[in-house]
Amino acid sequence: MLGLKLPTDPRWVNIVEKNIEEILTDHAYCEQKAASTAISLIIGFPEKSELVKEMTALAREEMGHFNMVHDKILKRGWVLGRERKDEYVIELMKFFPKGGSRETHLVHKLLYAALIEARSCERFRLLSEEINDKELAEFYKNLMVSEANHYTMFLTFARKYGNREQVNQKWQQLLEYEATLMEKLGKKETMHG
Ligand SMILES: [Fe+2]
Ligand SMILES: [Fe+2]
Repeated sequence: MLGLKLPTDPRWVNIVEKNIEEILTDHAYCEQKAASTAISLIIGFPEKSELVKEMTALAREEMGHFNMVHDKILKRGWVLGRERKDEYVIELMKFFPKGGSRETHLVHKLLYAALIEARSCERFRLLSEEINDKELAEFYKNLMVSEANHYTMFLTFARKYGNREQVNQKWQQLLEYEATLMEKLGKKETMHG
């Protein structure tokens, strides 16, 4: 599914279920960061009109998701906490070498975003199928569909703006790298950790 090389250990859901407040907090910031990534692509590559159009719509959609998660937090009588350290993102960034051309930078950013969307989609599916909380199961089922569309969009843009063959090769390498990361993760009540 989604090209991912290593599925999440289903026991991760048991960890999540013990701390719903923690997972919702982390999830809220994932949505906010997705919106920030979309905005940073607009700022970095304003001449790519098609990308700018899509990223404008995406930033709105992701902030809509943020709002939905925030409402879930409030409904349960909690207040949004501070942002959690995102080990997954920190480790993922290490895959991409610093420097390089502007085009390379764009392709890297698009592949990075595609992967985060793919893994989010996989995690949302797992939650929708395994979590005992009926309301959250339904919530994650709906979000899963959105993230799958985002994954496809980012990958399509990467292939459009970069050399298709090189992009496909780099994508495969990134998937392999992420699988090695996932062996260490999946043990915490965070969306990707
Ligand atoms: Fe989202
Ligand atoms: Fe997304």
